[in-house]
Amino acid sequence: MSTFQPDPPQTRPAAKRVTAPAIRARKGPDGVVTPIVMLTAYTARMAELLDPHCDVLLVGDSLGMVIYGLPSTVPVTLDMMCAHGAAVVRGASHALVAIDMPFGSYEASPEAAFDSAARVLKETGAAAVKLEGGEAIAPTVAFLVARGIPVIGHVGLTPQAVNVLGGYGARGRSEVEAAKIAGDARAVAEAGCFALVLEGVMEPLAAAITADVACPTIGIGASPACDGQVLVVDDMLGMFARTPKFVKRYEDLGGRISAAAAAYAADVRSRAFPGEAQVYRAN
Ligand code: KIV
Repeated sequence: MSTFQPDPPQTRPAAKRVTAPAIRARKGPDGVVTPIVMLTAYTARMAELLDPHCDVLLVGDSLGMVIYGLPSTVPVTLDMMCAHGAAVVRGASHALVAIDMPFGSYEASPEAAFDSAARVLKETGAAAVKLEGGEAIAPTVAFLVARGIPVIGHVGLTPQAVNVLGGYGARGRSEVEAAKIAGDARAVAEAGCFALVLEGVMEPLAAAITADVACPTIGIGASPACDGQVLVVDDMLGMFARTPKFVKRYEDLGGRISAAAAAYAADVRSRAFPGEAQVYRAN
């Protein structure tokens, strides 16, 4: 048996972070007064920039596509989630940091899920995990919550199930599918999720689930009917050429980075960089 123990996560001291119970408590009998703000983050510096503006930073397994250029979230590993999760926790001092459980790390049994989730929390210093699935995963959610692990649920379009769903299209178009998703949402909410991501669902379904479940719903491609919103940060910053319908672009960072790289390349080739200001000289 290995005696190796990873270094404890380097969290910032003292600052009061948003907690899972505080997020849950944002939804009262009349709903949520001020919508919950969530963005994904994968690196320390980005977390530092987003932290003052967000209630929750999600280290999404979307990092497989966004950071690693993988074709889906399916190949993402626990090692990847732990490394990026620890970086985000180091960069943030205010927002609750939640970490996606990657495909294959929690589905086999509640015990397997506990081992994976405990590793994630120990190695990163994050305060919650998110996992995809509905009725089938509800006993696992209850098992984790009863053992001290706050859980965010995720129903509707569940990208880890892309091979079963056959694509990333919006869900809940038929009455049968909508009823199944509503049942999934209720099951994981009743199992003890403190928040529930609704991804890629029709507006009336999002509204019905939001009215039905006790915890806040956080939508992505799920209309303003939700109690909060989440986007993949690289999407809303315009890092990719394609903008999905549900994304609002707040920047064109992709275009600006290309322009900056072109200007740098031109300066190097014309010897305009480094200039006088960037050169070390004696006196
Ligand atoms: O992986 C992710 O970024 C997510 C969000 C899109 C909710 O699950």
